Amino acid sequence: MISRGGTRLASSAVAAAAANARRFSTAGATEKSVLRYYATPAKGGNSAVSPWARGPILTRSATTMSLGEKQVKEEAEENKVPSERSTGAGGNKDGGDEKAVVSYWGINPGKITKEDGTVWTWTCFRPWEAYQPNMSIDLKKHHAPTTFLDKLAFRTVKSLRWPTDIFFQRRYGCRAMMLETVAAVPGMVGGMLLHCKSLRRFEHSGGWIKTLLDEAENERMHLMTFMEVAKPKWYERALVFTVQGAFFNIYFLGYLISPKFAHRVVGYLEEEAIHSYTEFLKELDNGNIENVPAPAIAVDYWRLPPNSTLKDVVQVVRADEAHHRDVNHFASDIHYQGRELRECPAPLGYH
Ligand SMILES: [Fe+2]
Ligand SMILES: [Fe+2]
Repeated sequence: MISRGGTRLASSAVAAAAANARRFSTAGATEKSVLRYYATPAKGGNSAVSPWARGPILTRSATTMSLGEKQVKEEAEENKVPSERSTGAGGNKDGGDEKAVVSYWGINPGKITKEDGTVWTWTCFRPWEAYQPNMSIDLKKHHAPTTFLDKLAFRTVKSLRWPTDIFFQRRYGCRAMMLETVAAVPGMVGGMLLHCKSLRRFEHSGGWIKTLLDEAENERMHLMTFMEVAKPKWYERALVFTVQGAFFNIYFLGYLISPKFAHRVVGYLEEEAIHSYTEFLKELDNGNIENVPAPAIAVDYWRLPPNSTLKDVVQVVRADEAHHRDVNHFASDIHYQGRELRECPAPLGYH
């Protein structure tokens, strides 16, 4: 929030810049920015629902520099999507009565609408980040460990399964939610380290930075989905806090020392995740876990039909894990061949 004092102080500089700013503003100050996204033919996977694509309509965010404060506030309020008006700036269920931030910077979140004209309600991801996973992926594929490092990676992951099974038993909803808090770490750590490497060596990454960061984001969306189904208790939150502190640092060091080992570990973790979600599906089929309607965030993120259920969600999440498995085993194989990741184009958009 910008204070009145700050606004006054900046107003002289803003006034001087306003003339230049106008050169970039081709519409009147009261225009609203609207983005529309149109369906296009699906590129694989379930073709019942088409993926989103950027449509040609768009328009701009009018500068607020020349507006009075009251008018700026009114415009900011007008440009909030309905869910934000009612639930706060979080865009869905996270907010309270948070008011719009009045700014003279010209940053004004545009409205995004779906093809049917309804407002896109999520601020944590946008229609062009939603996708349909390839459900025909081989779930049983396994990298047989032959080298010492591979066997070490495999045994490490298998040994982690034992305490996990004891702690969670057959509470797969809770188990999924907790494990996703860990699963979202390796992609971020690997992407961050490759990012720094790219900067200090003045070289391209081959797309691997984005691929790994996309994986981390995808895992985080798994978490955002499962926390709608299984609400974490205080001691589970405390466990996540502790495990994250340890795992982040261990993986960070591990990736620095041996990226091929680190990626292999993640490849095997993903194989375990596929197994866990398969068990989850069995419990749903047996009726031991209620097959509740899919959370709204999952319907929009994976472009699921509106009447989808938890079972549908678990199936698409499992398909995601299979893709992560392939990406990480592939990355490890590249290192095993004595090459760097940037030498082999990353499987961007592989899901
Ligand atoms: Fe996941
Ligand atoms: Fe994963």
